[in-house]
Parts: sequence; C-alpha cells; structure tokens
Amino acid sequence: MSLPKQLLRVLYDNQGQWLTEASLSRILQVPAAIIGGLIKSLCADGYQVEKSRDKGYRLINQDSLLPDEVRRGLRTDVFGQKGYFYFREIDSTNNRALELAAQGYPEGTVVVAETQTAGRGRRGRTWHSPARHGIYVSVILRPPLPVRDVPRVSLLLGVAVAETLEAEYDLPARIKWPNDILINHRKIAGILSEVVTSPQHEVDYIVTGIGLNINNPLEEFPPDLRTDPTSVMAERDTPVSRVRILQGLLMRLESRYYQLLEGDWGGILNKGKELSMVLGQEVKFDTPGGLAAGKAVDIDNNGFLLVQDEHGKIHTVISGEVYISPAEHD
Ligand code: BTN
Repeated sequence: MSLPKQLLRVLYDNQGQWLTEASLSRILQVPAAIIGGLIKSLCADGYQVEKSRDKGYRLINQDSLLPDEVRRGLRTDVFGQKGYFYFREIDSTNNRALELAAQGYPEGTVVVAETQTAGRGRRGRTWHSPARHGIYVSVILRPPLPVRDVPRVSLLLGVAVAETLEAEYDLPARIKWPNDILINHRKIAGILSEVVTSPQHEVDYIVTGIGLNINNPLEEFPPDLRTDPTSVMAERDTPVSRVRILQGLLMRLESRYYQLLEGDWGGILNKGKELSMVLGQEVKFDTPGGLAAGKAVDIDNNGFLLVQDEHGKIHTVISGEVYISPAEHD
C-alpha cells in the first residue's frame, strides 16, 4: 500500500480525532518532515483534512464518493471492483461510461461524479445534478442477451434501486413503469439505460445511468419538474450517507443482474410486480395515435406493461411513458 494510502487508513481509523505529526510519523514509521507532503497529496485527491498547529491533522467526514470511501465496505464481487472512475465534475457519467465501454472496459465498470454539468434524463430531459447532494452513477453491463431481453434488464434495475432505498433507509420506494422510482408519488430516482447492439441483434453493452436525490433540500429543486421531486433527506428529515446508499445500490444491482443471467427472470418479474405502483391503476399511455387510457393490469413475460382499455382490449405498452396522476405533464 502506498504511503498516502497508509496515511489515509490511519486517519480513517481515527476519524474525527486529531493526530499530531509526531504520532503519525511514529505509526507510519516515516520521518515527521514528510507528513505535510503526504497530507497535501491526499487533499489533491479530493480528501478534506483539517490542520491545526497544536493538534495536528484530522479527516473531515465529507461523505464524498471517492473510490477509497466507497470501496471500503463495498460487498460486491465485480461492480465497482474492476474499475471505479470518480469525477468531481463531469458533463454526464453516462457519456463517460459510453466512451469507456466503446474502448472495451469490462462489465461492472462504474463512473461516479459529485456533480454533472449536463446530466441527461429520459426523453431528452435534463437531470438536476447539484454537487454532493445526489448520487450520479453509471455502470457498464455486457449481458449475453438478445436485444428483446433489454426490458428485463430495465426491470431489474428499477427493482435494485427501489430495494436499496427500502433496505437502507426504510423508504416505501415504488417503481413507476418502466423505471422511475417514486415515494408517495414523488420522484426520488431515475434510470437512463443506453444500449449498443451488435449486427446480430445481441446486446453489445448497456450503460445504465442512475440518478438518486439524496441530501437535496426540496426548495432547491427546479420548480418546473414533470413529477414532483423528493429526496432521502426530505423523507427522513435528516441528511444521510451517500456512501452507504451507493454501496447498497451496487450490491443489489450486481445481485439482481446475476440473478437474471443465471436464468431466474421469474424472481425478478415477481419482485418488479410487487414493487410496481402502476398495477391496478388507471393510466394514460403513449400510442402512435396519441394518448390512450386504461387500467394497468400486468407486466408480461417480456417486461412490457399490459393495459386494459374500457372495451376490455389489452394493449401492450413496450416503451414510452405512462401517466398516473393528472398533475403529471410532458
Ligand atoms: C430519468 O428519470 O429521466 C433518468 C435520469 C437518469 C439520470 C442519471 S444521473 C447519472 C447518469 N448520467 C446521466 O447523464 N444521466 C444518468
């Protein structure tokens, strides 16, 4: 382990406590004169270290998504372990992940940013990405599947995000088909999956980008969002750990993803139906001829939404948007 990493480990182990230059030099068995330089190199990597002439140094707990913070305690085998690209600022983590995937980076490569200057949402929308409030993460997937199975991947992603919010912070997160995540009709997370296919109609790779509102004050969201927003902090009334949520998310994404690849689509579909907030609801949905209405009755074996209209006819909604509340608009 490099010296700055060893120093970081010591500061972590004593999180919040002051350590003098002399004690750090003793623990690391290096001359006291180089401690200042090592601290500087940690700061250059994005860590915040407080300095006091009398007391020495201490690490400020900043809940940043730096690789060391997230990887410590990350219980995955692949996701985030092979490649973890961290940016303090980027245009869009999906853009970067698409470039990396095109260069051949492996499945499970993760791109994370503290803020995005051009975060992208579905249907050409922008994703509000203020610094350090949310999680903006993209993961490269290389499922050996035909393109027609992509909606199945899409459903598992929604399941993993909703499960994470439920497991980590006891939030009643539900999936609004295809994969918006809402709490009591307020949007807390969105997923943008971008698929690159081979000429044989196989998936070459998928970049799945997930945006979660974590420590966002409600009053700082743009006023004109299509669906009313919420954040974990707003729901729990206290700021929470983004590191913990990202670790939980990567773990559940990995586990649900390999569940699909190992053939248990049925288990994912059942969980997706259980977490769905549209089933049983009157919805409107896009058709080539405009909006149509009906009752969402099921999600079929392909991951498509089935809607029954007033004449009893079943419509298979393959993609696009469904609208539940009259307040939603496009
Ligand atoms: C949506 O609900 O419209 C999808 C939003 C997806 C936002 C995430 S944030 C990380 C990744 N990078 C992007 O530019 N978009 C996705």
